[in-house]
Amino acid sequence: MSNYQTEELETLASKVGTPYWIIDAELLRKRIGDLKKIAALSGVHLRYAMKALSCTRVLEEMRKAGLWVDCVSGNEVLRALKAGFPSGTNPPVIQLTADVFRDSALRAVTDNNVIVNIGSAGMISALKAAGWQGPVAVRVNPGFGHGHVSACDTGGPSSKHGIWPDDLPDVIRACHEARFKIVMLHAHVGTGAEPTEFFTNMRRLGEYFASLISLLPDVRIFSLGGGLPYNYHEDQPDVDYSVLIPTLQKVKTILSSAVGSEIQLELEPGRYFVAPAVTLVTRVTDVKKTTTNAKGPGQTFVMVDAGFVDLVRPAMYGSYHAISIPAREGMPKIPLNVAGPLCESGDVFTRDQYELLAPRLLPLPQINDLLLLHDVGAYGYSMSSNYNSIGRAPILWKDSDRVTMIVRRETVDDLLRTECNEEVSLL
Ligand SMILES: Cc1ncc(COP(=O)(O)O)c(C=O)c1O
Repeated sequence: MSNYQTEELETLASKVGTPYWIIDAELLRKRIGDLKKIAALSGVHLRYAMKALSCTRVLEEMRKAGLWVDCVSGNEVLRALKAGFPSGTNPPVIQLTADVFRDSALRAVTDNNVIVNIGSAGMISALKAAGWQGPVAVRVNPGFGHGHVSACDTGGPSSKHGIWPDDLPDVIRACHEARFKIVMLHAHVGTGAEPTEFFTNMRRLGEYFASLISLLPDVRIFSLGGGLPYNYHEDQPDVDYSVLIPTLQKVKTILSSAVGSEIQLELEPGRYFVAPAVTLVTRVTDVKKTTTNAKGPGQTFVMVDAGFVDLVRPAMYGSYHAISIPAREGMPKIPLNVAGPLCESGDVFTRDQYELLAPRLLPLPQINDLLLLHDVGAYGYSMSSNYNSIGRAPILWKDSDRVTMIVRRETVDDLLRTECNEEVSLL
């Protein structure tokens, strides 16, 4: 979590308005550096899952640090290229992981020689028809795993991701017939509800991959996906990432002895790098109350100018983000709900995973106070929308004592730019 002086946040607000996102460049670099050290000790190659936060400035930072990148759409591939990541499959610096080719995806990979991580059997014939002649990776659904909440379903019969084990022989055959060499085996099992679950699952995944080696004797690269846990709760201990070193070393040993030679292990976190480095700065516009009646207890709502168009995670999964009101620090705390401007009852930042109100103990703010939502770097801006025709908020980049706006606020002209009146022939 980053610390800012209230005056500097107010100065920035007077220049760019609220809400705005602010990235702490030094913290971002520290996260990258810390994990690179762990990866070096574990013998693992790092890829950044750019869907977590895909703006060019952040991608450039990852590229300069020597990370590779995992994309999930054709446009993410194009963004990665724009940020200077090289195309090509040897080495496969850019990778596309998908279950469906949509929009520019097939073009982006075939034009730029980008390796595809196949998540659905039908993608093989689509790639072949598009003229692909290179190697591929295969993403399997290992039958276990989930994100921080069970609604985030990354593995098992109820997960849409990857190739179900029963289908793997057919997928291997189809790749063989298409002359696609399978060079990498991949799975993403997710964070898990408890930090320890992730580390247990990594080992389990290593054993699972080892059980598939007889089917895939040529594979030497194994990706354990992303999902490195991050502790969002101020009152809980930080995750001990040093556990990763023996865990990954163990997985490497399991896999290299199953293969009978050295293997390459990959990890592709998103959240780990960016989550703590970004803060969403909002303005309190009102405080209003309801009183208890037959339907339920009375509540206090702190109204702010950011909503789930900016940060959707609390509305989508009941995700927790620390909240602070710098001007009221040290004052007594009472249970408060923090809600946004959207014409949607779910536009509340203080919710639990059952999508019910989860009032938070916070000092009572006054109108015009700044209210900060912390640790919003992962799946914050990148999941934002312009629902209600609200333009996306700007992103500021703070590096030492310099602040640069790296993404401006979206205007109504931006929103209207795609509207047109072109006749589409029915012939
Ligand atoms: C295939 C894949 N790789 C990597 C990630 C990154 O996960 P995280 O940001 O939790 O590290 C995801 C996230 O959902 C994913 O689906």
